Amino acid sequence: MAILVTGGAGYIGSVTVERLATNGESIVVLDDLSYGHREAIDAGIPFYQGSAGDRNLLADIVFTSLSCARCSPSSLLLLFDSAISFGFNQSRV
Ligand SMILES: NC(=O)c1ccc[n+]([C@@H]2O[C@H](COP(=O)([O-])OP(=O)(O)OC[C@H]3O[C@@H](n4cnc5c(N)ncnc54)[C@H](O)[C@@H]3O)[C@@H](O)[C@H]2O)c1
Repeated sequence: MAILVTGGAGYIGSVTVERLATNGESIVVLDDLSYGHREAIDAGIPFYQGSAGDRNLLADIVFTSLSCARCSPSSLLLLFDSAISFGFNQSRV
């Protein structure tokens, strides 16, 4: 299973990524860097700069990068969204 961490370059996301990596998980990070920092993520971890709301980019990550990595087609994708409350706030505007 690969884990996509959105907002992974931020405060909580980067700590989450570090802990997941320590546990040997396969991780991909998506962050638009509006607040986060690329340097917060180990250079060896696949990183995409873009919005979690970009459906085309998400599809690209899921169907190309993740399937070409250690995931089998039957693998589950666990989406850990550190910006979930941000999204809820946006949807109320
Ligand atoms: N820091 C805390 O103590 C704390 C406590 C409770 C809840 N939270 C909540 O956890 C979430 C993360 O907090 P944080 O302190 O890590 O914030 P942060 O700003 O450090 O991290 C958020 C990350 O999400 C990225 N981001 C924002 N919008 C994005 C989008 N549309 N697509 C992709 N990436 C996007 C930013 O660039 C940033 O790297 C927030 O919703 C916050 O309200 C934080």
